[in-house]
This record gives sequence, C-alpha cells and structure tokens, in this order.
Amino acid sequence: MKTALEALRDEFPLLAHKTYLNSGSYCALANSVKRAFEAYMDDRLAVGANWDVWVMKNEAVRGLVAQLLHAKPDEIAITASVSAGLNALASALDFSGPRNKVVISDFEFPTNAQIWHAQEPRGAEIVHVATDDDGYIPLESFERAIDEQTALVAVTHVCFRNGAKLDIEGIGRIARARGAKVLFDCYQSVGSVDIDVTRLDADFVVGGMLKYLLGTAGIGFLYVREPLIGELLPTHSGWFAQENITAMDITANRPSPSARRFEAGTPPVVNCYAAEAGLQLLLGAGTTAIEERIRDLTKSCIDRLDAIGWPTVTPREDSRRGATVAIPSRDAAGLTHALMERDIVASYRDANVRASFHFYNDEQDIDSLIAALVELKPQFAPIDD
Ligand SMILES: Cc1ncc(COP(=O)(O)O)c(C=O)c1O
Repeated sequence: MKTALEALRDEFPLLAHKTYLNSGSYCALANSVKRAFEAYMDDRLAVGANWDVWVMKNEAVRGLVAQLLHAKPDEIAITASVSAGLNALASALDFSGPRNKVVISDFEFPTNAQIWHAQEPRGAEIVHVATDDDGYIPLESFERAIDEQTALVAVTHVCFRNGAKLDIEGIGRIARARGAKVLFDCYQSVGSVDIDVTRLDADFVVGGMLKYLLGTAGIGFLYVREPLIGELLPTHSGWFAQENITAMDITANRPSPSARRFEAGTPPVVNCYAAEAGLQLLLGAGTTAIEERIRDLTKSCIDRLDAIGWPTVTPREDSRRGATVAIPSRDAAGLTHALMERDIVASYRDANVRASFHFYNDEQDIDSLIAALVELKPQFAPIDD
C-alpha cells in the first residue's frame, strides 16, 4: 500500500523517466500546475483580458501563502521575486541613525547580501557572520555579532550551497533581546518544512514559488508582521501598492494599510495560476508529513554516502539539515553532467553537487544516485578521499 505522499508521485510525470533531485533549484512540474497554466491560456483565448478573475487569483495566492505561514492575508505581499520584496522592505528602513547595522551570514544567497550592501550609501553597515571550521554557523557567532546598533538581522533559513539549516528560532530570540528586527529568507526551506511565523515571532519572511512550493518562477512573497506594517513606508512602490488601486490618483502616494504596500505594479498573473495550484497541492499533502519524509530521505542519503565512503558537507544533525545533501567532488560540474547522462538531475554550487529532496522522491531515487556515484567514484570523488 502506498502512503498518501507516495501516491502523489504519479502526479509528476517527469519522475517516470528522471531521478529528479533538483527541487532546491526548481521543482518538478505537477499535472495540476500544468493544467493551471493551460487554464490561463484558455482564459486568454476565451475572454482576452479577464482582470476580475486575475485579481482574485492574486488574492487566492495571498490567502494560501498566509495559510502556509500561519499568518494573516493582510500580512502577505505577493511579489515578482524575493529580491523585489527585499528591495521594497529595504526602502522603508532608516539607516541614518545609530541603529544602522544589518547582520547577515556567510550562508546567504547573493541577493540577500547584495541588497543590504546596496543600502550602504543610505548609511547601512553590513556585518557578515562567518562560517566555523566545521562548516556550520552556531548561535554563539550570532550572539557576538548582534548588538544595540543592529537594526536588522537578515539570515537564510537553509543555506543554498551546503544544505545547512540555521537555528532561526534562536537567532530571532537574540535579535529581539537586542532590539533588532529579524528577517528570514526561507526560499530554501518553505514547502519542505513547516514555517510558523507566529511561533518564530518573525518580523519579516521572504520566499518564492519555484522550489518546494511546486509553482513557478516569477512570483514570491514577503511576510510583514502586522504591527510593523503601518510604521514602514516603502519608497519602492507602485499602483498595486496603493490603498485604492482603482483610484488612479496621480496627486499622491497613499500606501495600502496592509502588506500590499510592499507590492508594485501589475501582478504576475500567469504565475498566480501556477502558484495557486502548487500551493493547493502542497497544503493538501501537509507540511508536517512532508517535513518528516524529507528528513528521512536526506538522512538515508547521508547514510548511504557513508556506506560507499563518499563524504558530505551537509550537517548530520536533523535540526541542522534542510532538504539538500551537498556532495563534494573534485569536479562538481563534471559530476553533475555525468549524473545527467544517467538521467539523474542535480545541480552544483562551489565544489559540491546538490541532491535536493522533496516529498515526491523515494528510496529508489537514492538507489539510483548511489549506484551512479559508485561507478563515477574513481573520476569524481573528492581529491582527499
Ligand atoms: C535562499 C534563496 N534566497 C533568494 C533566492 C533568489 O530569489 P529571487 O530570484 O526570487 O530574488 C534564492 C534562489 O535560488 C534562494 O535560494
């Protein structure tokens, strides 16, 4: 008997002919998401411009993201990307006073470092928390970096390079104790673990739809904790960020009282169709069950790597590991290519091949990966292996 999650594997036709270990880059396409794209096309052919439905789609995505994060719809901005949300937020922060530091980590995806560095001309001082020799960043390192001058701690939940998961609950506690706000970049975790903004007591959370949320590129979200919304006035704005979109008032900027004030122009309509379908599928599967399955799969992958004597640079502790297992190689690009020739889809960053797991993966995917690695070991194992 298949479990409910195992049965859902059939909804992803790609999995019938590929070992797909690339959800940390882009998810496999589900039948329902493909149908959602087609529904948009049908709309275009049948009606042309179906704005009433399209605005409702945008709102439906907002509602589903809120449900996913245990937040309120008014706390969610639907953005074109994580970068767009971060830029709108950054534009609303003041770095001209004594509290001008932004603390980030060595684990950041470039956009969550570059955008904060881009605030330096506005007075921001960016502090990087370094990785320890063992490849992890413990809470003590954040303890040392966050101080009374810190305006914002902006850290990734899971590192896109090595799959390490930071203790964001602990980081949030330290930030709050020092009077700093806290932002979590959950792009590499949302959809693979349960993210509860209330439990995390997060001020801001960003993420997007193309990885574990089963949707598409070109759409993301920014969560802003309700009490903060009114006191933050983005200068990065647009007509969809206004209190009344239909007012078409060109005499003033009247931002929405909700997190919509962090939006900008015309919503990513076609992407909303896909995002809605992906989120519905994910929420139907259940994030707690997904989290458990991914934990088991990544653990099994690490155990199987151990068994063939191939190291990993991903932390072994369940609490410190996301959905990606990073596999070092003397030639990560070459190994990724060799895996692809064997119908195993992975990606690489730095000197590591990334095998990313979603609920639709199974033990046979790990069998295929390990069998290929055994064959490719003489050519691609790390030099010091
Ligand atoms: C952790 C993380 N943050 C941000 C991004 C990029 O976000 P966007 O391209 O939507 O700005 C990525 C993309 O892979 C990511 O992995």
